[in-house]
Amino acid sequence: RRDLLGLEELSAEEIVCILDTAEVFRRAFDQGIKKWSLLTGKTCVNLFFENSTRTRNSFSLAARRLGADVVDFSAATSSLSKGETVVDTARNLEAMGIDAVVVRHSTPGTPHLLAKSLRCSVINAGDGAHEHPTQGLLDILTIRRRLGRVEGLTVALVGDIAHSRTARSNIWGLKKLGAHVIVCGPSTLVSRDWEKLGVEYSYSLDEILPRVDVLNLLRIQFERQTRRPFPSVREYALLYAMNAERLARTKPGILIIAPGPINRGVEVTADVADGEHSAILDQVTNGVAVRMAVLWLLTSAPDQKRSPVKACL
Ligand code: CP
Repeated sequence: RRDLLGLEELSAEEIVCILDTAEVFRRAFDQGIKKWSLLTGKTCVNLFFENSTRTRNSFSLAARRLGADVVDFSAATSSLSKGETVVDTARNLEAMGIDAVVVRHSTPGTPHLLAKSLRCSVINAGDGAHEHPTQGLLDILTIRRRLGRVEGLTVALVGDIAHSRTARSNIWGLKKLGAHVIVCGPSTLVSRDWEKLGVEYSYSLDEILPRVDVLNLLRIQFERQTRRPFPSVREYALLYAMNAERLARTKPGILIIAPGPINRGVEVTADVADGEHSAILDQVTNGVAVRMAVLWLLTSAPDQKRSPVKACL
């Protein structure tokens, strides 16, 4: 039984193993090979307690493309409304013969709790503001494919670092692979504490722009803010929106990525989001390959040892 709960607990070798496996699936996809039979006979369940477009659908597609059956659990129409707990819900689904649970929940640590209670593999698809490991992996795969390496690059995560699970997974993954990471945003959303882990912080996008290789533009997560947001959307866009004028002050080969959903005109303008430096939709394609790699490595690949991921092609 193996789980993927976060990038914090993976070694650089394990991260590279997942990326290399995803690369195989991505290249096959580009050659028109979408369907595999590696997970025939396996069953995955998507246990999402928060909304999702990219993660949920790409996990479903990834499992189906590998030949697995998929159960798409709907929290809204489930017996949670009758008082059943998340753990009991998951244990009942597991009793139906599930091999992997993909879970997203607003409470940090929910995947870890399920991993203690279940025998099948548990994959974290986002737990509160804690981690979103497959997003971190697909971001890093996109960087590696576009720029040919990760080591030695300067990657800026711009925006709502305080509430971003994507930021945390990016930080763990990028640091382990040798990138220099800058977290940048308003002081209300960027903690100096990351400095202790070797991450640079900045409150000025304009100051860091000329020295970054990659900009990862994060959404302001209003749904996780309990007080009136500061700065306002208008103030944020003025100081941090990636627009044509700012793009002109970056390195020539700058790579722009964003986990999505994007708010056009807030963290990025439409011309930049759809422009030649943007890999935003390529990230989504890479996301399916990453999730295929994770599902296969965790549930089926040969020669694995227990947790978190131990297998290579
Ligand atoms: N990036 C991401 O997690 O998107 P979704 O919320 O649509 O899954």
